[in-house]
Order: sequence, then C-alpha cells, then structure tokens
Amino acid sequence: MLKVSPSILSADFGNLKEEILSLEKGGADYIHIDVMDGLYVPNITFGPPVIKKIRNISHTPFDVHLMIHRPERYIKDFVDAGADIITIHEEATIHLHRTIEQIKSYGVKAGVALNPSTPLDNIDYVLDYIDMVLIMTVNPGFGGQKFINSMERKIKDLRNIIEDRNIDVLIEVDGGIKLENAGRMKELGVDIIVVGSGIFEAEDIAERTEKFKRL
Ligand code: DX5
Ligand code: ZN
Repeated sequence: MLKVSPSILSADFGNLKEEILSLEKGGADYIHIDVMDGLYVPNITFGPPVIKKIRNISHTPFDVHLMIHRPERYIKDFVDAGADIITIHEEATIHLHRTIEQIKSYGVKAGVALNPSTPLDNIDYVLDYIDMVLIMTVNPGFGGQKFINSMERKIKDLRNIIEDRNIDVLIEVDGGIKLENAGRMKELGVDIIVVGSGIFEAEDIAERTEKFKRL
C-alpha cells in the first residue's frame, strides 16, 4: 500500500498542533518535516526545538528531511528531538557513507535525498546501507511547485535497481504530488508519497489525507 507522509511545510504554523492532529485523524503514515537552513536551499524553516515540541503531541513516525549544508553537524540534535527517519541530501555532505553510518549509529532510519539533476549513480555504492531514497520531484526549497516529469524515469530506474539487487530500500517522492498524479506514483513503484500543498490546500485536511490513503 502507498504510504502518505504529509509535509507540514504548508501547514499553518500558528495552528500546528491542531493541523498535525487532523493529519493523524486522516491516517497519515508519517509526518514529513522539512528542515531548511537558508544556505543549502533558499528558504529557512525550523530546527530541533520545534520538532521536540511537536513530538510531545504526536505518536506518528517523524520523517525528517534535512535540506541543510553539512548535515553531519546536527544529526544527534535531530535524533534527540525525536526523528524516526533522517534523510540527508547526497549533495550536502562530503562523506556520504560516514554520515549514513552516523545516522544509523543512533538507531534511527537513514534516507538519502537526490535533487532532480543528481543521477542515481551517485548513491550506487551506498544503496545497501540505507533504508530509503527520497527522489526530489521538484527543486527543494518551497512547497507548491510543479512535478518535474523527467523524474518518472528516475523512479522507474530506481525501482528496477532495487528489484535487481533484491534490497530492502523504500522509495519516497517529494514535490508536486497531488491527487491527480499520486496513482501514477504507485504504478511506478513508489512506497511513500510526500504531500504538502496537495493536502493543506483542502478545506478539510483530515478528509484530504484520507483520500490520498485510499488511492
Ligand atoms: C520541498 C519540500 C517538500 C514540500 C512539498 O523542498 O521538500 O516536502 O513541502 O510540497 P508540495 O507537496 O506542495 O510540492
Ligand atoms: Zn521534503
């Protein structure tokens, strides 16, 4: 079954608690938390203290997407804040394998994200060590952007590699996922869809989450 990870990037931050509870009511499998540092991406969001606070109100696994430069400096802070999956960008760290091992040493799951222009080859030799690949289907930094169509082939190629090598790695897609193309993601072999504006644009967030779940 396709899992849904709503991104709170598009939430009303003044009303975050109620909105997270609505996502849970709608059956969200994860809560996707977009951390941006204003350097790796041209936007700034929030860090460990905010995550720690929302950890108190939610039991849903936290899918933490680090869009930060040199993420190895902050892994422990995000673990302590309550992350269940920590995803770093391949482009943001020099010693990718070392940073993956660092994440895993705390007993949390490790994901690697790829920008649209980054080839799958860049993670060839670390695929066996990670739990998830996050394929960015927009350029990271903002919600509400349009899905980049050439990413379909990337998703397909990754699915084939995972099947060929018979490894246990989840495929997550992030950016521009709406009710209209979510079914297509499932066909391509995606395990988890991140949905931001596609959920928060709805009048009823819980109901919209449920709609994605039912796909
Ligand atoms: C973009 C973030 C996404 C974003 C997706 O940099 O990583 O998680 O919230 O938003 P939508 O679903 O609106 O494209
Ligand atoms: Zn994200």
